[in-house]
Amino acid sequence: MITTAVVPAAGMGTRMLPATKAVPKELLPIVERPALQLIVDEAVGAGVDHLVIVTSRSKPAIEQYFAPDAAVEESLQRQGRGAVADQLRRYGNDIRVSFAFQDRPLGLGHAVACARDAVGDRPFFVMLPDELMSDSSLLAGLTRVLDDTGVGAVALKRMPRTELSRYGIVSPVGEARVVSGLDALPFVGVVEKPAVDDAPSDLAIIGRYALTPDIFDDLDALTPGSTGELQLTDALAAQAAREPLWGVVSTVGRRDIGSPLGWLQAVVEAAADHDEHGAAFREWLKDEVRRRN
Ligand code: UTP
Repeated sequence: MITTAVVPAAGMGTRMLPATKAVPKELLPIVERPALQLIVDEAVGAGVDHLVIVTSRSKPAIEQYFAPDAAVEESLQRQGRGAVADQLRRYGNDIRVSFAFQDRPLGLGHAVACARDAVGDRPFFVMLPDELMSDSSLLAGLTRVLDDTGVGAVALKRMPRTELSRYGIVSPVGEARVVSGLDALPFVGVVEKPAVDDAPSDLAIIGRYALTPDIFDDLDALTPGSTGELQLTDALAAQAAREPLWGVVSTVGRRDIGSPLGWLQAVVEAAADHDEHGAAFREWLKDEVRRRN
């Protein structure tokens, strides 16, 4: 069972400027809940009780979000939203929240390396907060595969050719098989953002990883890649070259909220499914779409 999740949240969020000039990308709201809250809910749903948020000194709002605040909790209680108050009260009580600081955004690999002391010597998740998953089942599946195989497991998604150069693409070996009831396949390499014709497959790593702690040695050994950043995929490639890692082909709903269109889609989807406002929102949206056609 994996109980620690690292959430790298120290990036600049340049695609969402100017919003991210003052508000961290991870706290932009999906209706009334910050994106980071949805990530935490997904983690807790998979059994996580220790969150390690990698943040930067220039994003103090992230720490503030997890700080206890009796006035906010009372206000939520008065509005009849006690369940949300209870959820916030869990931080620092049954859910431990640690912060690791990345002084400069030197890349995702560097951000994960900053979490080493907080993680310790046990397997852990990495969850990219600009990708939202519809539920916790993908994390649960990654844990099962790591338990079964003893090596790291990453979430994969088949992507159309035009998208391949935006992701880390794996080189599978052998046939896909069912591990713990999931479609899983071993891979021996990863190429970060390949040119379409150089992509070794159409299987892209999406933002959920279950990693063994020896990845930290591979992260320490990294040198900056072509982009000048320390890439998590390069550390995974080094591990996979020694012994194949495993990919789990995801079937859960996914939204990439790091760009304006993806964020908008996630907000509209969450609004349409919203317990309290969903019905009214769907009516309104229908009229708006009709008016514009
Ligand atoms: P992204 O590259 O998607 O995020 O990294 P970004 O750099 O913030 O966004 P843009 O491209 O400028 O718009 C994926 C995740 O990794 C974190 C980011 O905060 C984001 O959640 N990250 C990235 C770090 O924590 N440190 C880094 O050096 C790079």
